[in-house]
Amino acid sequence: MPQPASPLPTEFLDFLTHNATRFQEELMQWLRIASISSDSSARQNVHLAAEWVKNKFEAAGLKTESFETAGFPLIYAETPLPATEGEKKPPVALVYGHYDVQPPEPLELWNSPPFEPVVRDNQIYARGATDDKGQVLTHVIAVCEWLASGRTLPIQVKFLIEGEEEVGSANLEEHLPRLAETLACDVVVVSDSSQYGPGRPAITCGLRGIATYELFVDGPSHDLHSGSFGGAVMNPAIALCHMLSSMIDKDGRIAVAGFYDDVLPIPEIEREAWKRLGSDDAEFARSVGVDTLAGEPGFTTDERRWARPSFDINGLTSGHQGEGVKTVLPAKASAKFSHRLVPGQDPKTITQKLQEHFTQHCPAGVKFKLKPDHGAGAMLADASSPYTKAASIAVESSFGVPPVMIREGGSIPILARFQEVLDCDVLLLGWGQNDDAAHSPNEKFSLTDFQRGIQASAALWQEMGRI
Ligand code: BES
Ligand code: MN
Ligand code: MN
Repeated sequence: MPQPASPLPTEFLDFLTHNATRFQEELMQWLRIASISSDSSARQNVHLAAEWVKNKFEAAGLKTESFETAGFPLIYAETPLPATEGEKKPPVALVYGHYDVQPPEPLELWNSPPFEPVVRDNQIYARGATDDKGQVLTHVIAVCEWLASGRTLPIQVKFLIEGEEEVGSANLEEHLPRLAETLACDVVVVSDSSQYGPGRPAITCGLRGIATYELFVDGPSHDLHSGSFGGAVMNPAIALCHMLSSMIDKDGRIAVAGFYDDVLPIPEIEREAWKRLGSDDAEFARSVGVDTLAGEPGFTTDERRWARPSFDINGLTSGHQGEGVKTVLPAKASAKFSHRLVPGQDPKTITQKLQEHFTQHCPAGVKFKLKPDHGAGAMLADASSPYTKAASIAVESSFGVPPVMIREGGSIPILARFQEVLDCDVLLLGWGQNDDAAHSPNEKFSLTDFQRGIQASAALWQEMGRI
């Protein structure tokens, strides 16, 4: 079947093609800035990454502002209001993304340094390539270059690019009510997720929420000789293992009382549609380097990843970690763990259930403390909104095939808050791939997806102008 005609003029499409190398160089500049939001020694860099994108907007003549927070600045920009005919008010879209990145460690596993971007096999390798600099830059470039070519947009596009997404967006959340008027929009557009697979673009209609914790177990006042004391004093590391394993049964069902109480079932229509996507468990297992997959009984892999809650231990600490043997009964043990949450679940309620669970399951002879960290609810988008339809046309015109409707399992904490405070729709157009290695060594982003993303973004604003 022939590809639907692009809503973009041929001259602009040619212009995008001829300038592909320049766009790639711009992305590389941004990627060289090691804007690791969780690393206090990288603070200067995070500010530089904010400045970089602010300069880009200013150079293109957008009205631009930097909102200071207790953390990193929120970079805001907007295009001029389009001229209106009669009563009809054109839609307003807000592009959201983040300029902060995850730490690059372990460094020895990178084939090239994380903040020295290189192109190999048409992929750009660097921390932040897909998450999220490469993806959000598609929209920045599409809008800035469109305006620079002397054209006007049929809708208003606003941008909000923050520097604390990877650490939970607490400062943005705090400032959101105050910024609600500035950010007012009909739809928030986010490119910070993935396609369903290579050559299979997707619109993501839901993300999971998140609740992260640290669990501390304290035992004796100091480390003890395991010969003199072992067997007579509760070992905090063993107590921690008991407490953690009591949270999930062998089949993979979470065993915390009431954990599933508020979970909304997955609509049958979505389950059916996802089964038709034709995912391959054997291939999926191979792609992550395991023999076989494991998870909650009665659900497919996509259902488990996208629409069922999960429990993961993210880190464990206790006792002797150095070389050789040390026969010690450690004084304390701790674990970092997280739950992915689904529609219906509230992180605060989950915290209460966990508190009760650990109170019941904490062995005698040790004390525990549960410290909650990030908490955000799941997010569902309206798959039948006019914005989704416009996006579907725009994506097909640039990727050559219509997007499939999926959900994803990651979390973008602020999106559910946007929906509440701004009363808007959310449109998730992930240009990445599942094997882009976000948060991992050798993170990458396909230059083809970068270029198609720019084109799809430019087409999207035209399509939204027809709403
Ligand atoms: N871009 C991701 C979110 C994402 C991941 C969406 C995979 C879709 C698929 C985002 O930058 C991220 O990593 N979020 C964190 C949030 C946390 C630090 C509060 C996450 O999901 O762990
Ligand atoms: Mn991201
Ligand atoms: Mn991330």
